[in-house]
Amino acid sequence: MFSLPLRDGTHLGPLEVWHAEEFAHHLDRAREHIRPWVGSAFVTDDVDGARATLQRYAERQAGDGARLYGLWRDGVLVGGVMFTAFDVAAGSCEIGCWLEPSSEGRGLVTRACGALLDWALTPRGLHRAEWHCRADNDRSSAVAKRLGMTLEGVRREVWPYQGVRYDKQLWAVLAPDWRALGR
Ligand SMILES: CC(C)(COP(=O)(O)OP(=O)(O)OC[C@H]1O[C@@H](n2cnc3c(N)ncnc32)[C@H](O)[C@@H]1OP(=O)(O)O)[C@@H](O)C(=O)NCCC(=O)NCCS
Repeated sequence: MFSLPLRDGTHLGPLEVWHAEEFAHHLDRAREHIRPWVGSAFVTDDVDGARATLQRYAERQAGDGARLYGLWRDGVLVGGVMFTAFDVAAGSCEIGCWLEPSSEGRGLVTRACGALLDWALTPRGLHRAEWHCRADNDRSSAVAKRLGMTLEGVRREVWPYQGVRYDKQLWAVLAPDWRALGR
């Protein structure tokens, strides 16, 4: 319905249930690249699984909760950003992201997350936005840093993946700090 131009022919827009086939094809290109770094429920194998993810986000959005947005580059879905949590009562949210390999290194996710932060921390009036990532996910922590977030701490060995427990970093930015950055 709406689409926000970002850069290099890339647009940000709502990723909804009717995109299930397109999302499933995109996951075929992204699956192994994102698997170690994102929640396992997000890494589905077929159209039904892709649709279930989109349905889950749609239901949460209907309650003013989590939201999912796609990134289309030259008309092809190449990744996305989301509010994995959006809690108006607590005044806080958490942002997540992913890309297929061909679209890394272009600044798309930093720009898209900036749009989410602008919306959450200004018109929606939330006070705090968080970013959680595996401590060895250098590309992800680089995005948090580029967004002006502060590393607040590390949850030790909280992320089990393939028999190993990984540390998780917690980054965050507060609304006054985001506004002061003037992005
Ligand atoms: C995390 C992830 C989305 C980061 O992707 P990314 O392309 O590095 O991030 P951005 O889109 O913000 O782009 C930044 C890169 O573009 C470059 N870039 C080019 N133009 C830019 C611009 N105008 N602004 C910012 N960066 C720009 C930056 O230099 C940087 O590249 P570098 O790291 O090689 O120096 C991606 O690596 C990914 O999908 N990983 C697997 C899934 C995952 O980890 N998700 C996050 C879970 S917490």
